Amino acid sequence: MQADFILKGHVLSFHSSPFEEDPTAASQTCEAVAIGKGKVVALGSADELQAANPQAQIVDYGDHLICAGFVDAHVHFPQTAMIASWGKRLIDWLNSYTFPEEMRFSDPVYAAEIANRYLDLTTSHGTTSVCSFATIHPESVDALFTAAQARGQRIVTGKTCMDRNAPDGLCDSAHSAYDDSKRLLEKWHGVDRLEYAITPRFSPTSTPEQMEALGALWAEHPEVLMQTHLSEQTDEIEWVLSLYPDARDYLDTYEKFGLLGGRGLYGHAIHLEERERDRLREHGAALVHCPTSNTFIGSGLFDMAGLMAQGQRIGLATDTGGGSSFSMLRTMAAAYEIGQLRGTPLHASQLIWLATQGSATALRMDDRIGNIAPGMEADIVVLDLSSTPAIAQRSQRAADLWEALFPTIMMGDDRAVAEVWIGGKRSV
Ligand code: GUN
Ligand code: ZN
Repeated sequence: MQADFILKGHVLSFHSSPFEEDPTAASQTCEAVAIGKGKVVALGSADELQAANPQAQIVDYGDHLICAGFVDAHVHFPQTAMIASWGKRLIDWLNSYTFPEEMRFSDPVYAAEIANRYLDLTTSHGTTSVCSFATIHPESVDALFTAAQARGQRIVTGKTCMDRNAPDGLCDSAHSAYDDSKRLLEKWHGVDRLEYAITPRFSPTSTPEQMEALGALWAEHPEVLMQTHLSEQTDEIEWVLSLYPDARDYLDTYEKFGLLGGRGLYGHAIHLEERERDRLREHGAALVHCPTSNTFIGSGLFDMAGLMAQGQRIGLATDTGGGSSFSMLRTMAAAYEIGQLRGTPLHASQLIWLATQGSATALRMDDRIGNIAPGMEADIVVLDLSSTPAIAQRSQRAADLWEALFPTIMMGDDRAVAEVWIGGKRSV
């Protein structure tokens, strides 16, 4: 295939997981990447790629790092406008800030405004794919898919289902949750780059009847993802066990209704029992680490090292707006800090892998996004590793790529994002 563009800089690509071997040996850099028809065509030296693609336009990024666009594996786009709301723990925070804001998404005009604002913000932070909860309103799903489709983005979302323990205006029923989810799934799943996820918010806001209906829908459509929350806070776990007295543990409230599987995504997963860990791993289910949210809402310290060593599938996410940032750089920094508090700091290579291929693997999309390799979709972020004076004075002293990148992970923000390519097109 002929390339349309050749991007020059330091192109980072992974050939294995930095959690399975020496973190510095899992990747390599090269001088340029050729992209065409929305895909990565080839990697190599600029001369080589130019000779093979004489018509391609060259975009020279100098010393910048060119890596796969960030993949945010768990967000709530409807919480964009109430991010950074002060001072509550999970259940109070949901009741005081989240549910009143989510009520507004019955209005398709408001839903479209926030969907576009959210994608503007995340793109400017280098995020090219997200897996988002919507609200209970089908309009909110239509809004995010419509905005993402216009931008050519690979996006996952689904109607959030809740039929108890939420305000009246935010409750559906077992029946309507099944019907609306099925209709939206059939309308959107597989259209362009869009994918549907069956989305029970979490066990406390679904009756057993609703869980059963959504488990049945997943059994009818095993090709789609299923996303929810698991074991975020200890008092939440107690509440879940009181609502489901027969359950062995929190995970069992999903498992017994057919809501545990290899295409399942379980946000937070901090306070897990041994049985839950075993079952999640046996199914190849994905855990999604949301570090800025876990510190912001005071949830606890995710056991990245222990869970990775057990062979769990793990993605990284902002959890906007429980998370306090739209930035996957900030999210990597928080994951590093949580690792430090547990005595198991993550290497820069592991952090950038989690934010790209790790999340893509969690979403079962690592054959399409999350890495720069021939045949992959050309979702790319170009990072300026000297974006502020404070970062520049540190990175200029770096002995290698990882030392040059780490200050941007710890201190960088949207100023570090020099350019974003989505599906082979420069985003504006
Ligand atoms: N648990 C159930 N809903 C939510 C949510 O919106 N945010 C977070 N952080 N946890 C949840
Ligand atoms: Zn969440």
